[in-house]
Amino acid sequence: MHYPEELIEEIRVSNNIVDVISGYVKLKRKGNSYFGLCPFHNEKSPSFSVSPQKQMYYCFGCHAGGNVITFLMEYEHFTFLEALQELAGRSGIKLPNPEYSKEERIKADKKSAVLEINKLAANYFYSMLKSDSGKVGFEYLKKRQLTDETIRHFGLGYSLQYRDDLYRYLKQKGYADELLKESGLISYNEKYGASDKFWNRVIFPIMNVNSKVIGFGGRVMGEGEPKYLNSPETICFDKSRNLYGLNFARTTRKQYMLLCEGYMDVISMHQAGFTNAVASLGTAFTERHAALLKRYTREIILVYDSDDAGTNAALRAIPMLRGVDISVRVLRMEPYKDPDEFIKNLGADEFQKRIDDAKNSFLFEIEMLQKQYSMDDPESKTRFFREAAIKLLDFREELERENYIQKLASIYKIEPAQLKSLVKSVSITLSGSPAPRQPKSTVQKKEKEESGIILSQKLFLTWLIEQPSLYNKVKSLITPKDFTEDFFRRVAEMLYEQLDDNKLNPAAIISCFTDEEEQRKVAGMFNASLGQIETNDEKEKALNDTIYRLKENSIKYASEHLDSTDLKGLQELVKERKNLQSLKQMHIFID
Ligand code: UTP
Ligand code: MN
Repeated sequence: MHYPEELIEEIRVSNNIVDVISGYVKLKRKGNSYFGLCPFHNEKSPSFSVSPQKQMYYCFGCHAGGNVITFLMEYEHFTFLEALQELAGRSGIKLPNPEYSKEERIKADKKSAVLEINKLAANYFYSMLKSDSGKVGFEYLKKRQLTDETIRHFGLGYSLQYRDDLYRYLKQKGYADELLKESGLISYNEKYGASDKFWNRVIFPIMNVNSKVIGFGGRVMGEGEPKYLNSPETICFDKSRNLYGLNFARTTRKQYMLLCEGYMDVISMHQAGFTNAVASLGTAFTERHAALLKRYTREIILVYDSDDAGTNAALRAIPMLRGVDISVRVLRMEPYKDPDEFIKNLGADEFQKRIDDAKNSFLFEIEMLQKQYSMDDPESKTRFFREAAIKLLDFREELERENYIQKLASIYKIEPAQLKSLVKSVSITLSGSPAPRQPKSTVQKKEKEESGIILSQKLFLTWLIEQPSLYNKVKSLITPKDFTEDFFRRVAEMLYEQLDDNKLNPAAIISCFTDEEEQRKVAGMFNASLGQIETNDEKEKALNDTIYRLKENSIKYASEHLDSTDLKGLQELVKERKNLQSLKQMHIFID
């Protein structure tokens, strides 16, 4: 479902970006812009700027940027539609619903009702924990050394011994059985009727990134099976798309996140100050989780239990994380089993040391591999090195592979040259040629490298926005059809139209893209800025080079795609080539 462009634009212009952002960031006027501390990265002096003219924001430190809609998407992790709804509400614009299909409507209603039920239930469990009947639960959590503040922060609760007290509570709030069933909190049975899913357990509400309660985990107090019961998947709870603790972890702005196994691990780490810890919930870590994490961090430190199950889980998670270009290290907790135990025994400072010492994931993988072989037995030892050599082939870059060869050679006491020749020989036997294997890529295709030509197309558009006075000088040289990348061509078309009408309005172009990824791309581009280029001479040189490269590429592209019978096109191309020569001699001045 979507809204008409005019309406989107109306909502955007009726929300002044300075006002909206001021609600989140303390801004100070400096010349034409406002500055503040960037909410998207950690900084001490303000490099986050908001321009009332452009109606855009941009951070010179981390390069976050966009319009008022993008800001809410980034800050609140809203989708495009959610951001729009929020802004419409803010400015009192009524959003029509007609473009929702009936099914979508019903689904959305159901989803918000389930969220409401979850919220009520979470509050109910919390108040039970604080009540006399909930003393056992409260004492259990206290025994596990959770503070009142931690209990409140995570909204921990307790489900009473009764079969159906939550059911009765929710019924009295007026919810229909059908909906209660949908929430996963209540189940039905021919013989007994409705009953609660959780009884006599401490409750861990599970929140999504926007801190909405989407499900629950319940732990027995002490021994008992199953140790944890979890909400089933529901209309708003998709286990593979959520991580416990992520709603808090995402705001810590640390360079890395800690990924662990369980509720209690996350909670203990947060309590000890490691608020960037998250866990996959009662389910194995998947590629979806990796993709989710990729949105928030570039590095993960794995804090899985130090038993075999934890080690194996780590070995499975590593390639998934690498597959989305997250770098991974592995934290060892020996002699303790999990972070909860570790922190209780050795404290936060020691834990921080372990974080600092966390092992490179490749070396961890090799270490675990080595355990399967006996280094005393020549045959077994040879097999180990052979397997290690195969893994070394995953490094595509020569230098990186070389560095790892050196490292492994020194750890496992083998001549680097020997290991190197082993790598070469396994690569020949494996592929029939000495080329290194391509790593098995997982979920996302590695993002297309930003080749020079893509960069030129992007830069050119950036500059037009920075300096619209250039437009009249360049519009006859470069037209939207010179943009060979479809995405940039679309942006160029809109931008040229605005510039022709003398109505430059980059913020409006951003909201023409409703796809979040594309929107971020446009926003980033409009802000990429000439910031790094210092002098006017340098700028001029960069501009002239860029124009030349853009044109050159456009001609190359055209000649590759030209139909050989298209005489007119051919003539055009010859002309263009000639022009390109003269373009080389030309110099456009920036003034
Ligand atoms: P753990 O057994 O390591 O639990 O399982 P924990 O979080 O450390 O809890 P404590 O410290 O023993 O109280 C790790 C995670 O696996 C899921 C839960 O999400 C748990 O936090 N799990 C475990 C279940 O879903 N069901 C179970 O029966 C056990
Ligand atoms: Mn545990």
